[in-house]
Amino acid sequence: MSDRETWTTRLGFILASVGSAVGLGNIWRFPFQTATNGGAAFLFVYLVAVVVIGLPAILAEFVVGRRAEMDAIGAFDELGHPGWRAVGALGVFAGFWTLSYYSVVGGWVIRYIGQAAMGSYGSNPKVFFGNVSAGPEAVALHALFMLLAVGIVAFGIEGGIERATKVMVPAIILILVGLVGYGASLSGAGEAYDYFLTPDFGVIVANAPSVIPAAVGQALFSLSLGFAVMITYASYIDGDESLPVDGLSIAVTNTAIGILAGLVVFPLLFTQGVGPDTSGPGAVFIALPTALADFGAAGRVVGVAFFVVILIAALSSAISLLEVAVSYLVDTHGFERKRTTAVLGVLLFLLGIPSAWDTAWLSWFDSIAVNLLLPVAVLLLVLFVGWVLAPDAVDELRIGSGDSFDDLAPLWLWSLRTVVLLAVLVTVALSVTDLTGAPV
Ligand code: PHE
Repeated sequence: MSDRETWTTRLGFILASVGSAVGLGNIWRFPFQTATNGGAAFLFVYLVAVVVIGLPAILAEFVVGRRAEMDAIGAFDELGHPGWRAVGALGVFAGFWTLSYYSVVGGWVIRYIGQAAMGSYGSNPKVFFGNVSAGPEAVALHALFMLLAVGIVAFGIEGGIERATKVMVPAIILILVGLVGYGASLSGAGEAYDYFLTPDFGVIVANAPSVIPAAVGQALFSLSLGFAVMITYASYIDGDESLPVDGLSIAVTNTAIGILAGLVVFPLLFTQGVGPDTSGPGAVFIALPTALADFGAAGRVVGVAFFVVILIAALSSAISLLEVAVSYLVDTHGFERKRTTAVLGVLLFLLGIPSAWDTAWLSWFDSIAVNLLLPVAVLLLVLFVGWVLAPDAVDELRIGSGDSFDDLAPLWLWSLRTVVLLAVLVTVALSVTDLTGAPV
């Protein structure tokens, strides 16, 4: 497969992966996960989960991808035996499933950019959210968002994804830093920082059974694991760069951006006395507009900037999810990229219609993805890399890493087989009990 595309630079791969990792998970999901799980205490557990679970797991996906240099389904076949294709297939399916409703939320964000520019979110932001989040308009905006994703992925790795994310990721960081500056100037900033950054360890101890799996789930979702994205992206690496260094850069940047988002959201909420405990998807779409509505012109600028950041972040994640399925059809079946991308875009649009029609469906799709498909896919990945690929995985991780990693690579394998396996098993067990029934 000599004509298979590759990233032009190492930075291109890192930025594309950061673009995938940084998404609705950081800016939309993270603040309300923090709010519902005890504030700073959750942040602390989440940070530990990123280092202890997320980092070894992202390296597991990288190793599979770079070693096979193939789409996610072909990779398991190539490195294991044909039966393991099922693991890749689960990842590809899960990514497809997730993108169908991720795109619906992306559509809401497009709508909110327009509203923020006008500085109005109806007379009651909650009622307004109810009106725009479901129905024909949500379907139309979902189509628009899918179109944007298709428009990037159709141009391939170098001309599409790499070129787009090289601009998108710096833009996210720049705008967010500006917004953090604004947040710091607000009167509620002190109280917000305290809430967000000073952990009450008593909360962790008292709520460990719910806080720990929530933090592990958030770490996995936020690093784009389980949906074969990092396998696919790593398969386009050309060269023997150090995967641990790449993984660490991606994890640190992703976490930093999540924290920056919190440093924007919480000062706004505290200043307006909206309170951080608005749980669920409304945290960003209801509480924030409620807070912004009173800030006049500044509120408009901040609102537009904030929703633009969310849109860019959502789009740079959506393209990674789309690429997983596209690369499978192109690599394994030899389909033509542009046409394949367009056809998948149409199918994803259709699959997302129930979610765009009724948020109860969206919640169900999300629950299946995050509580079932994701942890099961990561569990199977850990079994594959930890036991089937094992010695080869260690070799692959050592490539390009210098002598200093000689001891670290076996330690990584050991951590996959113990801590990561255990954490993922517990997450599977606990999150499956959280599954939402279909709203029919
Ligand atoms: N990491 C993305 C986010 O935080 C979501 C995502 C998960 C994207 C899995 C791709 C694959 O929003």
